[in-house]
Amino acid sequence: MESRKTVSVVGAGNVGEHVASLLSMKGIANVKMFDIPREVNGKVFEPVKGKALDIKQMAAGMGSDVYVEGYTVTPDGNGYENLKGSDIVVITAGFPRRPGMSREDLAERNINIMQIIIEKIKQYAPEAILIVVTNPVDIMTYVALKLSGFPKRKVIGMAGVLDSSRFKALIVDELKVSPKDVNAYVIGGHGNEMVPLISLSNVGGIPIKDILPPDKIEDIINRTRFGGGEIVNFMGTSAYHAPAFSVVSMLEAIIFDTKRILPCSVYLDGEVGNYYGVDGFCVGVPVKLGVNGVEDIIKIPMIEEEKRMWKESVESVRKTVGMVEDILRERSTH
Ligand code: APR
Repeated sequence: MESRKTVSVVGAGNVGEHVASLLSMKGIANVKMFDIPREVNGKVFEPVKGKALDIKQMAAGMGSDVYVEGYTVTPDGNGYENLKGSDIVVITAGFPRRPGMSREDLAERNINIMQIIIEKIKQYAPEAILIVVTNPVDIMTYVALKLSGFPKRKVIGMAGVLDSSRFKALIVDELKVSPKDVNAYVIGGHGNEMVPLISLSNVGGIPIKDILPPDKIEDIINRTRFGGGEIVNFMGTSAYHAPAFSVVSMLEAIIFDTKRILPCSVYLDGEVGNYYGVDGFCVGVPVKLGVNGVEDIIKIPMIEEEKRMWKESVESVRKTVGMVEDILRERSTH
């Protein structure tokens, strides 16, 4: 058990607890969960401890010999000593977007949370790889990178794996084929302008543009882009099964050093040539994931239509990054 890696999950809400649960079920890592207390009618609860116990009991029932523990932390950063020994830290902590709240408002509130958490990760797990889930994810990945000062290959945002699963599910539904034979990739920013790559998506090697008519493809692109919103409309809260599984796919690639190619939000600079005009912020691109985190960034060919969508998508991320840089600059001078 000693050689088993330890994954800490900061923010054990819907996504975080399912990440912990899947990791325990699969028996692939020890898990530490961190979350704040919750007050209901004057009584203070510690849900993270209850969730960890529940998962621990599930693991015992399954015969999965992982170690699971839950720790209550305070919003101002007490209680994080147990991050010690974490190989990977998954950050899902944050506020969800409420009606009437702009992306900028959300970014500002979640930066406050991120600032405290990153400080603690630097203190207790300075060698860890970070996987950022908190939205707006491309922005929060950039913020985590800047605030931590960690190597850029060790700070990775989760979005593309999830968006690609949604894209894949729609193709599976439409063509009634096994998802095992579908390769479908979504890159760009994790927002309504994300870029489903039609030219590189295929079923059993056959490009989907040769199988599906243009109007069907258009429909699939739109439903992929609003896949998250569709779920919010049904549930009144955002998705967590597919997001949690997407995080676990990334974790497996890192823990077992599989070198899988997965679309993730990573910092792009001049290193991979000029990645279609992106220099100095994080967006989703295919990367090779292994024990060192991002081991390669893969520059893929795009057709003109995809380049146009990419430009729109990254422009919208670039704008928010500009605003976030002002916030970070202002804070560092105070
Ligand atoms: N420190 C630690 N945990 C915190 C803090 C904090 N300062 N503030 C909030 N949290 C915790 C909440 O208590 C909650 O349990 O973060 C958790 C967030 O969980 P949910 O609200 O259930 O959100 P979830 O659906 O899991 O999504 C998490 O991922 O996909 C994104 O947009 C989504 O940013 C959101 C994140």
